This record gives sequence, C-alpha cells and structure tokens, in this order.
Amino acid sequence: MKYFILFGPPGAGKGTQASAMVEQFNLKHISTGALLREEIAAGTELGLKAKALIDAGSLVPDEVVEGMIESQFKTVKGVNGFLLDGFPRTIAQAEALDKMLAKSSEQVTGVVSIMIPDAMIMERIKHRATIEGRADDAKEETINNRIKTYHDKTEPLVGFYQAAGKYNEIDGVGTIEEVRDRIAALMQRF
Ligand code: AP5
Ligand code: MG
Repeated sequence: MKYFILFGPPGAGKGTQASAMVEQFNLKHISTGALLREEIAAGTELGLKAKALIDAGSLVPDEVVEGMIESQFKTVKGVNGFLLDGFPRTIAQAEALDKMLAKSSEQVTGVVSIMIPDAMIMERIKHRATIEGRADDAKEETINNRIKTYHDKTEPLVGFYQAAGKYNEIDGVGTIEEVRDRIAALMQRF
C-alpha cells in the first residue's frame, strides 16, 4: 500500500489538488478536516467538542484525529493506498502514524508539500469563504490563528520528513492546472 501525505498551510490547495492525485494512483482521499466537519454536521458528541476548537483556528486533540485515521485504514478496501490531507499536523501525530503503519510493516511513501506565502493564504481563504461558507473561513481572526497554528505546530514536520528523506516541495503559486502538473510530474517518481 502507498501512504502519501498531502502537506501545506491552510488554503494551499490540498483539497483542490487531491482529486487528480487520487485518480492517478487509485488512492482513498482522507481529509481529517472534512471528517471533522461531517461530525459537526451530524451533531455527534465528537463534533460538538471539535467545533469550538476548529472555529477558533486551533487543532483538535491528537488522539481524536489519530483514531479517525486508524479506523479509515481498517475499513477502506479496494484501493492502492491513501492520500492523507491535513494529517499529520503535529510531530506527535507523525510519530503515531509511523507506529500505526509499522504494525502492518508499512511506512509513509512520500510527502507532497504545497507551499504558498502567508499573504496568499488569506487571499485564497477569503475567496473560498464567499463560495463554500466554512465556519472557520468566516473571520480574519480565525484565519490568522490557523496560520499561526500552522507555523507553530505543523511546520516542524518539514524537518521531520526531510530527515526521513520523504519530503518533496511543490510551488503552490500559479494556476490550479500549473500546480496540478507540477504534482503529477513529482508523483511519477513513486
Ligand atoms: P482542514 O480542513 O484541513 O483545513 P486547512 O488545513 O486549514 O486547509 P484548507 O482546507 O483550508 O486548505 P486547502 O489546502 O485544502 O485549500 P483548498 O484546496 O480548499 O482543517 C480544518 C480544521 O480542522 C483545522 O483548523 C483543525 O482545527 C482541524 N483539524 C484538521 N485536521 C487536523 C489534525 N490532523 N489535527 C488536529 N486538528 C485538525 O483551496 C483554498 C481555496 O483556494 C479554494 O477556494 C480553491 O479553489 C482556491 N485555490 C486552490 N488552488 C488554487 C490556485 N492554484 N490558484 C488560485 N486559487 C486556488
Ligand atoms: Mg482542505
């Protein structure tokens, strides 16, 4: 099985680029953000707890998303692998993922990191707010906290995966098609 990590700051284009990647390799796309939004929409206890954190632009606890990922690995069949979007997001989550995969003698195949400057994050998310109506896109304060959370908690994963020889960075500035072609060229190598 292949285990790809789609990495990048909020608004980098992870969700946008995932569909082409999934088709190219017959992968299951797992977005922890999307799974959490489903829990919120369904009004589950987990969703209720997660909502306040998400709306503030903070991370939900590591154990919550780790449990979601493990249950997807166990239940999804008929694919060649997984495309993890928005997970891992902390060093603890990355270590938990390594442990989870080691249980079945598997490992992370590669990280595809889409990078854009902070100013572009704000621009793209404000644009998406007019289309999708995500609660965490509505306020500039929340977006700024998501950017800060990314730099504080998630960016250290760049060094973590560089040290493991698994980190590949793509310039996320350009049209959706330009970025898609850059990713496809990189993915040919796996
Ligand atoms: P999550 O849903 O993962 O949000 P995020 O990381 O903030 O990323 P986004 O979904 O905002 O951005 P994206 O990169 O997918 O961009 P998109 O393709 O939509 O997480 C939400 C929250 O859930 C977190 O804040 C946290 O609270 C919680 N959470 C999730 N995972 C967690 C975890 N592992 N641990 C703890 N908590 C977790 O593109 C953005 C916009 O730009 C779109 O409108 C798009 O059309 C446009 N666009 C894309 N590409 C281009 C381009 N090349 N040119 C112009 N526009 C473009
Ligand atoms: Mg997304």
